[in-house]
Amino acid sequence: MASSPAGKFSLCLVLMLFSWALHAASRTIPEASVQQKHEQWMAEHGRIYADSEEKGKRLEIFADNLQFIEDFNHGGNRTFKLGLNAFSDRTVKEFLETSTGLVLPSTLHPRTTSFMYANITHIPDSLDWVAKGAVNAIKDQGRCGSCWAFSAVAAIESITQIKTGKLLELSEQQLVDCTIENYGCSGGWMDTAFDYIIQNGGISSETNYPYNSSDGTCNAHMASLSVAKIVGYEDVPDNNEGEILKAVAMQPVSVALDGSGREFQLYSSGVFNGNCGTNMSHAVAIVGYGTAEDGTKYWKIRNSWGETWGEAGYMRIQRDYTQPEGLCGLAMHASYPVV
Ligand SMILES: *[C@@H]1O[C@H](CO)[C@@H](O)[C@H](O)[C@H]1NC(C)=O
Ligand SMILES: *[C@@H]1O[C@H](CO)[C@@H](O)[C@H](O)[C@H]1NC(C)=O
Ligand SMILES: *[C@@H]1O[C@H](CO)[C@@H](O)[C@H](O)[C@H]1NC(C)=O
Ligand SMILES: *[C@@H]1O[C@H](CO)[C@@H](O)[C@H](O)[C@H]1NC(C)=O
Repeated sequence: MASSPAGKFSLCLVLMLFSWALHAASRTIPEASVQQKHEQWMAEHGRIYADSEEKGKRLEIFADNLQFIEDFNHGGNRTFKLGLNAFSDRTVKEFLETSTGLVLPSTLHPRTTSFMYANITHIPDSLDWVAKGAVNAIKDQGRCGSCWAFSAVAAIESITQIKTGKLLELSEQQLVDCTIENYGCSGGWMDTAFDYIIQNGGISSETNYPYNSSDGTCNAHMASLSVAKIVGYEDVPDNNEGEILKAVAMQPVSVALDGSGREFQLYSSGVFNGNCGTNMSHAVAIVGYGTAEDGTKYWKIRNSWGETWGEAGYMRIQRDYTQPEGLCGLAMHASYPVV
């Protein structure tokens, strides 16, 4: 009996309910309220689970995240808040495996490129390339480790707009499929993507070569229909937020950072100064900077996790950190395309 599928299933269910009850005992949010919030959240995000077992498992993770959010937000004296978003039924580990995707080359040589903004002197106190119309609507990489492609494309879309006045939508899928020195949905690095675009003679449009958040074979015809070109790229001198500031004053910049923390995953608003290290796991684009009302200096970063994450898809993250590598290591590997 116990070995019949039905027996296994019910044993599973009993264990699951038992563990739910155990965990629930350490939570302060009433169980009925958590279940109701989960149902609401499912409806809001169009989430449907395969079976009740999966739903139970996801409810458990959701409840855990919800408790973490409430505890954090009631902790006081923080410059940012956490909140529910499209990823609230996933653990940090699952999230990291499916939604980031930075892979740095095994041998990272010291930078060899020049830095054309070394001597610029006109640096405004604050700047927002989004408000200036140089940044496309927020995109969503989905379950694919293609953050590197989104970071590179965002930087190219912006410098193209700054130089030509035209805001094009360019193809991340082309980079995922065709940049053979990167690993598609298993990860990659922006400079390698820039190298590919230079060699290919440009990059295709989103319309010609649309994104589908999975690995594909490079479509040579679509890849040849370039709508934007770059002639090179430059690395910002490492570990120096002052140098990044000069670059961002001129154009959005691609950066790698440690996006592996739970606070990063559940960030909702404010200036982020949460727990993170320098486990470089993710890539985004810096699209502006400024100073918050309380005097905290921040960078505005554009993520590729849809609009439910952060401030409508963006994060303000602490600028001029006490360590030269920047908060979450954001000053360690910054680069930008040259047109
Ligand atoms: C809040 O944190 C800041 C800096 O971390 C500190 O200077 C301030 O005293 C704290 N305020 C309270 C009420 O704890
Ligand atoms: C910046 O100024 C220094 C000193 O005048 C000069 O050597 C260097 O070539 C300049 N760099 C750029 C990128 O213009
Ligand atoms: C996604 O698009 C690529 C390139 O167009 C294609 O090779 C791949 O089969 C597509 N995958 C899915 C799941 O549609
Ligand atoms: C950094 O990544 C390594 C390897 O993935 C992991 O063992 C370690 O716990 C991580 N450190 C932090 C602080 O997350």
